[in-house]
Parts: sequence; structure tokens; C-alpha cells
Amino acid sequence: MSPIFDMSDSEVGPVGIATAAEALREGELVGLPTETVYGLAADARNGKAVAGIFAAKGRPHFNPLIVHVLSLEDAGKIAVFDAAAMRLAEAFWPGPLTLVLPRRPDSGIADITTAGLDTVALRVPAHPIARILLSAFGGPVAAPSANRSGHVSPTTAAHVAADLGGDVACILDAGPSGIGVESTIVGFSGEDAVLLRPGGLASAKIEAVLGRKLVAPASDAAVSAPGMLASHYAPAASLRLDVTDVRAGETLLAFGPDLPAGSDRAEAIQNLTMSGDLAEAAANLFAALRRLDRESAAIAVMPIPNDGLGEAINDRLRRAAAPKDRVPTARR
Ligand code: TXA
Ligand code: MG
Repeated sequence: MSPIFDMSDSEVGPVGIATAAEALREGELVGLPTETVYGLAADARNGKAVAGIFAAKGRPHFNPLIVHVLSLEDAGKIAVFDAAAMRLAEAFWPGPLTLVLPRRPDSGIADITTAGLDTVALRVPAHPIARILLSAFGGPVAAPSANRSGHVSPTTAAHVAADLGGDVACILDAGPSGIGVESTIVGFSGEDAVLLRPGGLASAKIEAVLGRKLVAPASDAAVSAPGMLASHYAPAASLRLDVTDVRAGETLLAFGPDLPAGSDRAEAIQNLTMSGDLAEAAANLFAALRRLDRESAAIAVMPIPNDGLGEAINDRLRRAAAPKDRVPTARR
């Protein structure tokens, strides 16, 4: 069981911050209090660390995660704000509002953090301990709620310990979360501001600042099953899964050291992991798909073990391989 630091203790608190900041730098996970719910935090730029979030949560699929930063200025280095986004950020940050915005090409955010999307979800938390840790760490932090998949979101350090105590380097205990439900998520689609997830900030307050109504997502998939988000990155190329023989014209998405027959005729090869490490494969998945998608219209994918993170990798690959007319259209 990992240490739980009582952040109300003036001697323990600074040790907790130093331990947590160092853990984030080392690519480890931290149980982090925010004003909404406790988060399972990792360095948002470190793909392997973020893969660790999915492994710890036991999620059978990759969701895009929320990136937490200290200020609007830091957020502006990661995403592009139009006038409406700027107005919401200025009105409600720090606080329980998450904005989904176009990701800057040089954002430094790992592809797995955004599940390969060109957009990124950003939030500036108000909780003092979250802010002190962000400041001590000095970088963006990806953090979904710190519960195992299928469990409810944690609002105390004890909840985090019960679900993930063995998976985090430490937990910062700042007492019960004040708000107790996740942040409200707003995205933009053309002229529309879209309510992607109702949460701790009332939509009426957002509408008052915007001067117009929030619209519902194109389908309610984002709310009922975030993992089924229509806004998943979908390659233009077709995918052929569990390939043991590469065909002419195909590129190869490889896993591990033993390549399949016909690999020498592959137009290009991206190996997710030379050593067969599933966390490494998860961290590389979206960037590798994007590169192969640029190289050819057909991607052959080697079999990937279905244990641990392999389940989420295979889920993502099956979605990417599904006939395009059955995949919901991308929402931007
Ligand atoms: O209150 C909160 O927001 C908590 C605390 C810890 O800050 N965090 C949280 O994060 O709930 P998370 O990662 O579980 O929320 C992720 C959700 C996804 O399921 C998806 O609905 C949405 O945010 N999301 C993230 N990135 C997105 C994107 N690029 N496009 C659309 N939706 C996105
Ligand atoms: Mg959650």
C-alpha cells in the first residue's frame, strides 16, 4: 500500500508535495485531490505514464483524458482558444469546467492522453493542493477520476486507496472533495458550444456567459458511455487485424520482435514495442497509427495479446477496423 499524506498537517504536507512531484517526474501515478473528485494523475507528456493510468483503472478501452494545468496561460500553450473559449476560461477558471479545444501541434501532450484526437480537454483546477502540486511539478497532468473502471468516482483519499492503493506512488489526502461530481465538459462545433458532460458547473451559468444555449452532442454517447465517444480518432486507411501474412501494398503495425511472413514487402513498419511490453505499445499506438495512415490505404496489424492493456489496445484497433459507415462520424 502506498503512503497517504495528510495535507492538513503542516509538516506532512510539504513532504507529500515533494514526493508526488518526484513521482510524476518519474512517470509514476499519484492520487490527487481536486475540487470535483480525486484524480489519478500522471505526466500528460509521458505516454508510458499515461498508459499506466489505463492499466491501473482496468479500463477495457482508451478514453481521451482531461489535462490539468495551472493557468490559462499554460493552457494556451497546449490548445487554441477562440473568443468563446476564452470567455468561458476567463469566467470559470480555476474551477470545475473542462474545455475541449484544438490541440496545438507542438503541445507536447502524449497521443495516448488525447486518444489520438486533434483536440485536447483542458481544465484549470481550483483546489489548493492540486494547484500546489501542479506548480511543484511544473507541467501538464492527465487525470481521470481515481476509481477502478466501473466503480463510482472517489471523493475521499480512502476511496482512492481502496481502489488504486497498490497502483499509485502516493495519495494526497485533502479531505472530502467539495463538489463531488466531475467537471462540466464543453466542446465547440462550428458556431455551437456543446455540452459534452454535465458536471460541477451548472450549464445555466455557462449559457449566461456565452449569451446562448449549449447544444446537446450529436448523439448522447459521450454522456452514457464516454469510451464510445464518436470523437475517437479514426484512420482513413482500412485495418486488417490479427495478420500473420502481410499482403502487397500494406503497411505493418507490428508487436514484438517476431515479424509475420511477408513483412519484407510492407510499405512501412511501425513496431509498437520491440520487447512485447503492452504499456509501451499503448503509449505508441495512436502515433504509430497516424504515421501508417499517411503511408498507405491498408494497414496490417499483428495479433496483440489480450491481457492487461492489450484489451484496450485491441478494443481501439477493432473500432478503427470497423466498416466506416458503422463508425459514428467525428465530432470536432
Ligand atoms: O472533474 C473532473 O473532470 C475529473 C477530475 C479528476 O479533474 N477528471 C475527469 O477526467 O473526470 P476524465 O479523464 O475521466 O474525463 C474524461 C472525459 C472523457 O470520457 C470524455 O468524455 C471527455 O473527458 N474528453 C476528454 N478529451 C476529450 C476530447 N478530446 N474530445 C471529447 N471529449 C473528451
Ligand atoms: Mg471517471
